[in-house]
Amino acid sequence: MANLTDYIDFSQPTFYYALANILFNPIYWNILARAEYRSHILTRLAGGSAFFGCAVLAVSIFSLGIFRDYLYHEALAVQPTLALLDTDLVKAIAAVCFTVGSTFVVSSMWALGFTGTYLGDYFGILMKERVTGFPFNVTDDPMYTGSTLSFLATALWYASPAGLLLTFVVHVVYRVALAFEGPFTAQIYANKDKKKN
Ligand SMILES: *[C@@H]1O[C@H](CO)[C@@H](O)[C@H](O)[C@H]1NC(C)=O
Ligand SMILES: *[C@@H]1O[C@H](CO)[C@@H](O)[C@H](O)[C@H]1NC(C)=O
Repeated sequence: MANLTDYIDFSQPTFYYALANILFNPIYWNILARAEYRSHILTRLAGGSAFFGCAVLAVSIFSLGIFRDYLYHEALAVQPTLALLDTDLVKAIAAVCFTVGSTFVVSSMWALGFTGTYLGDYFGILMKERVTGFPFNVTDDPMYTGSTLSFLATALWYASPAGLLLTFVVHVVYRVALAFEGPFTAQIYANKDKKKN
């Protein structure tokens, strides 16, 4: 009978490093962004410049993302592969997922701009209006959808059940992050409108 441990090697420490980083990153940026919103701590540490504070946070988030990709690849490298997934068709699907995912991430960064991408609204750097063009007319959360698709692409490319499991964790973590971030961001913009009126 199927035994999960035949497909995923839970004795590999690299699996847990990747898992820990996947869980940590959104917690990290939510805690810092909310602390900034409440007390402007990052702006103050950046000598009073909201933009510079946001840039420092952006660099740290970006670096954590690179580190997460590295840990994910390291983890998959020592995991069992599944012959069923080791086909040209699955590789082709992986390539499509990677292309669509990267397009979502890059185009949403382009549409949102630097501060819009990296939580600038928590620093009081607000978007003038809601971005509704591509890719936001295709998916509400292109950054998270795109990132998840990139994880999925890698898992499929390496025919890795462990990769699929970690991708699922990424998906759940982003869902939780959205449930947490969405209402808060809406509140920030509601407060801004209140001040204006
Ligand atoms: C699955 O495999 C593990 C490790 O080889 C073993 O300890 C466990 O008893 C197995 N479980 C089942 C349901 O066969
Ligand atoms: C989204 O917007 C782009 C241009 O901004 C357009 O080309 C595309 O057809 C739109 N997609 C949908 C599903 O509306």
